[in-house]
Amino acid sequence: MIEVRDGVFFLQTRTTSYWFALTEHGHLEHLHYGPLLPPQDPSALRVKRTVEFGATVVYAPGEMEYGLDAIPLEYSGIGQGDYRMSPVEVFTTHGADTDFVYRDHRLLDGTVASAGLPIADGGEGVQTLEVTLADERAGLELALLYTVFPDVDVITRRAVLRNTGEGTAELAKLASLQLDLPDRGYTIRTFDGGWIHEAHAHDRPVTSGVFSTGSTTGASSARHNPGTLLFASDADEERGWAYGFNLVYSGNHATSFERDQHGSVRVMAGIQPQAFRWPLAPGEAFETPEAVLAFSDEGLNGLSDRMHRFVNGHITPAAQRGVPRPVVYNSWEAAFFEIDEKRLTAYARQAAKLGVELFVIDDGWFAGRADDTRALGDYTVDAKKFPAGMKALVDRVAKLGMRTGIWVEPEMVSEDSELYRAHPDWALRIPGKAAREGRHQQLLDLCNPAVRDYIVEQVGALIDDNGFSYVKWDMNRHMADAYSPHVAHPGMTAHAFQLGLYEVLERIFGPRPHVLLEMCSSGGNRFDLGMLRWAAMIWTSDDTDPIERLDIQQGMSYLYPQSVVSAHVSASPHQQTLRDTPLSTRFNVAAFGCLGYEYDLDFLTPEEKREITEQIAFYKQHRELLQFGRFRRIPSGRRERVMWQIGEGDAAIVGNFQRGVRAAPERDILPIAGLHPDAVYRVDAKPQRIMLDRLGALVNHVSPVRLDPNGLVMNVVSKRRSLPDGVESYHGTGELLAAGIKLEMQFSGTGHNPAVRMLGDFGSTLYTVVREDAT
Ligand code: GLA
Repeated sequence: MIEVRDGVFFLQTRTTSYWFALTEHGHLEHLHYGPLLPPQDPSALRVKRTVEFGATVVYAPGEMEYGLDAIPLEYSGIGQGDYRMSPVEVFTTHGADTDFVYRDHRLLDGTVASAGLPIADGGEGVQTLEVTLADERAGLELALLYTVFPDVDVITRRAVLRNTGEGTAELAKLASLQLDLPDRGYTIRTFDGGWIHEAHAHDRPVTSGVFSTGSTTGASSARHNPGTLLFASDADEERGWAYGFNLVYSGNHATSFERDQHGSVRVMAGIQPQAFRWPLAPGEAFETPEAVLAFSDEGLNGLSDRMHRFVNGHITPAAQRGVPRPVVYNSWEAAFFEIDEKRLTAYARQAAKLGVELFVIDDGWFAGRADDTRALGDYTVDAKKFPAGMKALVDRVAKLGMRTGIWVEPEMVSEDSELYRAHPDWALRIPGKAAREGRHQQLLDLCNPAVRDYIVEQVGALIDDNGFSYVKWDMNRHMADAYSPHVAHPGMTAHAFQLGLYEVLERIFGPRPHVLLEMCSSGGNRFDLGMLRWAAMIWTSDDTDPIERLDIQQGMSYLYPQSVVSAHVSASPHQQTLRDTPLSTRFNVAAFGCLGYEYDLDFLTPEEKREITEQIAFYKQHRELLQFGRFRRIPSGRRERVMWQIGEGDAAIVGNFQRGVRAAPERDILPIAGLHPDAVYRVDAKPQRIMLDRLGALVNHVSPVRLDPNGLVMNVVSKRRSLPDGVESYHGTGELLAAGIKLEMQFSGTGHNPAVRMLGDFGSTLYTVVREDAT
């Protein structure tokens, strides 16, 4: 709900309020963003300007107390006395000087369409406030758009700058969001990393000066996800004030936090200003990406819940919203480029028996694609590898009861390709300079309409001709050589590329809503809300090691729901870390996401097949909960222990993961949150197996005959026999379980019985929590 009364703007969601008000000079003073307050006289929330401050540049002659530097503002300018970082830098005949003051406002139902950028979908109760500010002297008009999503407690913001003057205005920076909050001892949390180690959470206090993070790679990047958090000194996962910020954008971005001398923290987020320029001819406008804001006074879990509900309800493609994601088999880690009809058919038969629903043909299927040095751009089926054609394989897979998906990397071209030979000028390239190499490929110039048409036709035909119902869209190199002859200024290239990409995605997937799109960029190098407007899920990381995934998926969980986090089980020892982990843990981690397998199915042992079949059946049985349930991170106080809960109320699943074992392990306590206090629940460990070869010489404690742990018999037996692992069962009321179950003891070398938890290094258990007295 939005209410405007006496120059005060009250933006209300279910549990939060965002207020600002006009000052006597028409600036917008930020008053409050926090817990829900009923609209009322806000004067107590205004900053007090009772004494003049030394060294102040005042706004108007004789008004010594009106210095913009000391006022929390909704959007600032340059040169009027506010010396904090400005959200806007635009050069007109007056230099960079800008002073935006209120002109008018209007209230609109729903969202306001964007010219080319993805924005969140509206829904029940969604309203937009548009406040128009103007700087008459500079010839600029600035519209601030606030869209309120009451059901999910999210507010989004955008800015649109229009040149109303007579000359060209050169835009160098326009943030989507500026928010001036009073500091409550905040900590900034960012999600950083790189290839195979995405989204690791890093904290630092807000201190004097500016902390900034962002991306310059041409994509939102795994280096620094566009989503950030700010939380108060007394906040934790369950309690306290926490803010979340994100951008519905997939390109270069920047977010900064600046603490000023008066104890305000200025948050800004938007397009990365580095190397950005956008000339605006008279009458032209520039629109920023949509920034997303959420607040919770129920700590970081409360904040994540709001972000998750926003993504599930307003970001992911409407046709896939709430639709269970299928169990995937993907050929990449099994076979890399060595795929052909025969090998894939064999995998498909195995995958169908295990319960897989969607069979994905990854890289290596098109002509000339023997490795990553060639053929990107030429998506014609390799007739040697697929003599009967792709459609024949798709039909065969359909007969096995599965859908088929295909891998493409449409924004790229290899120099060694028919496409490049025909159109060398279609790649982004600085005139006169040799291209910079990156995975032997170059970015296509998506600023060029002919390139966009080519991609739309090519990918569209590929989907339609073969009946694919899924596309894995990859993007495996950073932008360099950011120059396009198809834009008016080189500084427009990176953003115009994004606009081109969004147009391409809309033209391909808009008319094909049944096609499930999974985004990928060397793993999670483009894991953002912009991509999620077309993709229902994103390949989170090329790293499928479950212990690494604990950090990666936990990082993503702060901002993105499990329904978009693609997570696969792969072989052990792991291809990147050499870490040897139990199959149970590989599944238990992947189950907190969209499950898939990337495995050479030819070499599964009968015991592994049995376990995988059971895993997939378990996942399907609990899929609604695992993909769409309310997610919580349960603090353990120990880095080596990670606990995740999904679901609340009548049913939940809790994962307990151990990164490393200690001798004589401490007691493990499992608290379960969000249950009905008086209802009675049963908690059961998901049945899983421990493979005999994991026991080594210990096998002789449980084997009736003495076995050589390295011998042939042991080798054969361990493929066909396994032990049930941790048969545990507990019960209690919701309030009792919230206090924490003291779990059965872990193995400590003094004996084994079925209840002993054989976790060791990298062990884990999933617990199902079911209400016993539910009718
Ligand atoms: C990237 C992706 C992988 C795989 C390969 C194929 O690395 O992240 O999942 O698709 O490309 O070349």
